Amino acid sequence: NEIYLQGLGGQLPPCSTDATKLEASAREIMAAGPFSYVAGAAGSGATARANREAFDRWRIVPRMLTGATDRDLATTVLGTRLPAPVAVAPVGVQSIVHPDAESATARAAASVGLPFILSTASSTGIEDVAAANGDGPRWFQLYWPGDNDVCASLLTRAKNAGYTALVVTLDTWTLAWRPSDLDQAYLPFLKGEGCAVPFTDPVFRGLLEKTPEEDLNMAILRWIGMLTGTDRTWDQLPFLREHWDGPIVLKGIQHVGDARRAAEAGMDGIVVSNHGGRQVDGALGALEALPGIVAAVGDRMEVLFDSGIRTGADVLKALALGARAVLVGRPWVYGLAHAGEDGVRHVLRSLLADFDLTMGLSGHRTLADLGPDSVQRT
Ligand code: FNR
Repeated sequence: NEIYLQGLGGQLPPCSTDATKLEASAREIMAAGPFSYVAGAAGSGATARANREAFDRWRIVPRMLTGATDRDLATTVLGTRLPAPVAVAPVGVQSIVHPDAESATARAAASVGLPFILSTASSTGIEDVAAANGDGPRWFQLYWPGDNDVCASLLTRAKNAGYTALVVTLDTWTLAWRPSDLDQAYLPFLKGEGCAVPFTDPVFRGLLEKTPEEDLNMAILRWIGMLTGTDRTWDQLPFLREHWDGPIVLKGIQHVGDARRAAEAGMDGIVVSNHGGRQVDGALGALEALPGIVAAVGDRMEVLFDSGIRTGADVLKALALGARAVLVGRPWVYGLAHAGEDGVRHVLRSLLADFDLTMGLSGHRTLADLGPDSVQRT
C-alpha cells in the first residue's frame, strides 16, 4: 500500500521496480567491469538463461473466495523469525558496486526485517557489517578455507558478532570460466577487493606476520590459495559442527544424492542453487532440481532455494514447489548500484509487496496454503 501511495503522490522510486529494467539501467550507470562481474555468468550463460526458463515453465493456478484479503506471510527459517520467506543472498565485493558496500545492504535488510547473509568475500569486515545491521537478522556465508585455524577463527568471529546461521557454499572452490570478466580483464579479488574478512582476522594476520616479507599482493594470493582448490569432502563436515553451534546449511546443492548426503550428515538445511548460473555452464536450471530434492529430503531438513528469483510470482512458485525460503541476488545489487541503501531497500520492499499481492490475488492467505497444486507445469 505504501509503495502504491507514494506512486499516486507522484513520488518516484530511487530505481526501477522492474528487475529487467533495473539490470538495463544498471548497465548505463555502472562501470563496465563491475557491471559485467555482477550480471555475468559462467561460459555461454546457458545456466543463467536456464534459471529463468525454468520459472517460465511453471504457472500459478489461482484460487478464488479464499479470504486471502487478510494475509500473514511470516515464517521461521533456520531459527530466525521472518516477516516473509526471503533472504538477501551472500554477494561478495560489494565495494565495486557502491562505496557504502555491505554496510548499506545490511542496513537495508534490517529495515525490512530480512536476513542479511555476509559473504566471506566481503569488502567490509564481519564486525563492521554486524554494527551496520544492528538488531537485524544476519547469517554468515563461509567459503571454507583450507586452513582449519583460520576457518575456526572466522566462525568464532561471526558467532560473537551475532550471525546466527552458517551458510557453507560448496560450489565455488575455484572460480568458474567467466568470459565476460576475462574480456574486461576484471578480477576484483586480485586487487584485494573482497579481502576484508581475512585481512581483519587475527589468525590470518598471524600467518602473514610469520613471513613479514609478504606484501599486499602476496597476502591476497595467500588468501586466494587458501580458498581455492581445497580438497574438502563430506567426511570433514563434523569440523564445522564442532565450531558452530547454530544451524548449518550447505549452499550449491543440485543433485538429489548430495541433498541426501547433507541430510545424513545432520545438516540443518541446504540451498538448492547454481550460484545464479555463475559456476557450471550447462548445469540445469535451479528450479528444475527443486521438486526432486524436496521429495527426497524435505521432511528431514529445511530446503532453501536461489538462482533466478526476480518477481513475487517466482517466490511463490519456488515455495509451492517446496522451498522453505528463497534467496535473492542480482536485483538488489543493482539497487545498491543505483541508490545505495535506499536502492537495496526499494528492491527488497518491491519484491515483498509483489509477492504479497501475488499470494493474495491467487488465493493464498498463508504460506501453509501453498503446495504443488498451486502451480502447474506447462
Ligand atoms: C554471488 N553469489 C555468491 N554466493 C556466495 O555464496 N558467496 C559469494 O561471495 C557470492 N558472491 C556473488 C557475487 C555476485 C556479484 C553475484 C551476482 C552472486 C551467488 C549468490 O549468493 C546467489 O547464489 C545468486 O546470486 C542467486 O542468483 P540470482 O538471484 O542472482 O539470479
